[in-house]
Amino acid sequence: MHAHAAAATLPLVPPMPTPAARPPSFLRVLLRGRGDLLSLFPEEAYRRQVMSFRMPGRLLLVVNHPEVVREVFVNRHETYQRKSRFMEQALAPVIGDSLFINHGAVWAERRAAIGPELHPSKLDRFFPLFLRAAEEMAEDLARAAPGPVDLSAAFAAATARVVMLALFGETGSRREDAAALASAFAAYQAAAENLDLLHMLGLPAWFPSPQGRTARRQAAAIRCLIARLLAGVPPGAGPPLLEAVRGARRADGSPLLEGGEVLVNEIGMLLLAGSETAANTLTWTLYLMARHPETERRVREELARLPAAPGPDALGPLTFTRAVLQEAMRLYPPVAVLSRQALAADRIRRWSLRPGDTVMCVPWLLHRHADWWEHPHAFLPERFLPEAARRQPKFTYMPFGLGPRVCAGAAFGMAEMQVFLGVLLRRLAFSVPEGFTPRPFCRLTLRPAGGMPLRVATRR
Ligand code: HEM
Repeated sequence: MHAHAAAATLPLVPPMPTPAARPPSFLRVLLRGRGDLLSLFPEEAYRRQVMSFRMPGRLLLVVNHPEVVREVFVNRHETYQRKSRFMEQALAPVIGDSLFINHGAVWAERRAAIGPELHPSKLDRFFPLFLRAAEEMAEDLARAAPGPVDLSAAFAAATARVVMLALFGETGSRREDAAALASAFAAYQAAAENLDLLHMLGLPAWFPSPQGRTARRQAAAIRCLIARLLAGVPPGAGPPLLEAVRGARRADGSPLLEGGEVLVNEIGMLLLAGSETAANTLTWTLYLMARHPETERRVREELARLPAAPGPDALGPLTFTRAVLQEAMRLYPPVAVLSRQALAADRIRRWSLRPGDTVMCVPWLLHRHADWWEHPHAFLPERFLPEAARRQPKFTYMPFGLGPRVCAGAAFGMAEMQVFLGVLLRRLAFSVPEGFTPRPFCRLTLRPAGGMPLRVATRR
C-alpha cells in the first residue's frame, strides 16, 4: 500500500544509457565502434556548457549552453551552416547533393524552392494523406492484436507512406513500396554507420568492407525504387508537392533540379527526412503513454473530441497531446546530434577554431541539462503546456534544429503525429510486454535498438 502510494507520486524516469564512468576519449569512441554514442557521455556532460576534444590536427567542440548554441546555429549561420564531413559522407550515397547536406548558394536556392511547399499555410492538402496512412496502419495493428507488434517498423512504413502519397499520389505508389523503402533505409543506416567508423579510423573510401558493400547495395536499391516511382508519374500529372519540386526554377527561369539524379536526390531526401524522425517520435510517445496511464487518459480525452476527418483547425485545442509529443522529443530527440564544420576561422569562448573543425550540438544533452530542466530525465509533459513553456529559457530545446537550417517539415510532422495519435488511440490500446525495456541507441538518428514491440489490443 505504502509502496504503491509512493510510486503514484514519483515521476516516470524512462530508460537512458548509464552515463560513462569517465569522459570519452576518441580512442574509446572508435573502439566502441558498434556501440551507442549516448553511452559515451559521462554524468558531468549533462552539466557542462562546452566540451572540447582534440584529435590529430582537428578540434571537436560540443556546445551545450543556450547562448553558445544560438551563436552557432543562428548568429553565425554563415560560418557553421555546413554539415560535418561524417554526415556528408554518411548520407551522400542515398541523398546525393540534396539540400539536407548541401550548403551555401546551392542549399539556399533549393531551400527557397522546397521549404514553402511544406509551410503551415499549405498543410491542409496533406491531412487526408495523414488520415489515410494512419487508418491503414490502425487496420494492420487491429489484425495483429493481441500480439506484440514492432511499432518502430510499423511507424517507419506508415510515415514513409505519407510522404510517398504526398509525392506520388494514390496511383503512383503502393503500400509495399513504402514498407520496402522503410526497411531499406533502416538497413542502409545500420550498414553506413559502421562504414563511417572505418572512415574515421582513416581507411580510404575504396577500402573493401562487407558493410560498405551492404550500404552501397541498399543505397542503389533505394535510388532505383525512387527513380521507378518518379518515372511512373508523367510530368504535370503528379501531386502539387512533386510538381513543385520537379518544376522548381531559378530566378533566371532555368530549371533548378535538372537531370534524373538531382531529382532523385531531393525526393530521397524528403522521404528520409520526413519519415524516420516522425516515426521515432510516435514510437517513443506510445511507449511513454503505455508506461504512464494518467498521461494516456488525458491524451485520449483530448483526442476523443477530434473530428473523424480533421483539418488544421481541429488541432488547435490539442494542447496536452502536443505537450506529450514535445516531451517525447525532449527525452528522445530523433536527431540527437547536429554536427557542423567551420567554414572559416572562428573563436567560441576560449577555443580557436580552424576551417574544417567540428562543432556539435547534442540535443540529447541539452534537453537533459541540469541547469535548464527540472527533473531532467523524468517524463513530465506538463512542462510543455503553454504557461510553463513560456518560462522555459530559449534555445534549450531544439528537436527540429535552429536558425536558417531549421527543419522545413516541422509543422507537417507535428500535424501528422497528432492525426496518427488521434486515429490509433481511437481504435487501439498499447501496453508494454512484461520484462521489456527499450534501449535508446544513437548513431545517425536516435531509435530503440532492436525495435519497440508493444502489445496491441483493440478497443470497443
Ligand atoms: C518529428 C518530426 C521531425 C523532426 C524531429 C525533424 C528534425 C529535423 C532536424 C533536427 C533538422 C535539422 C538538422 C540539422 O540542422 O543538422 C531537420 C531538417 C530537415 N527536415 Fe525535419 N524533422 C521532422 C520531420 C520532417 C518532415 C515531416 C519533413 C518533410 C516532409 C522534414 C524535412 C526536413 C528538411 C527538408 C530538412 C533540411 C532543412 C535544411 O537543411 O535547410 N522533416 N529536421
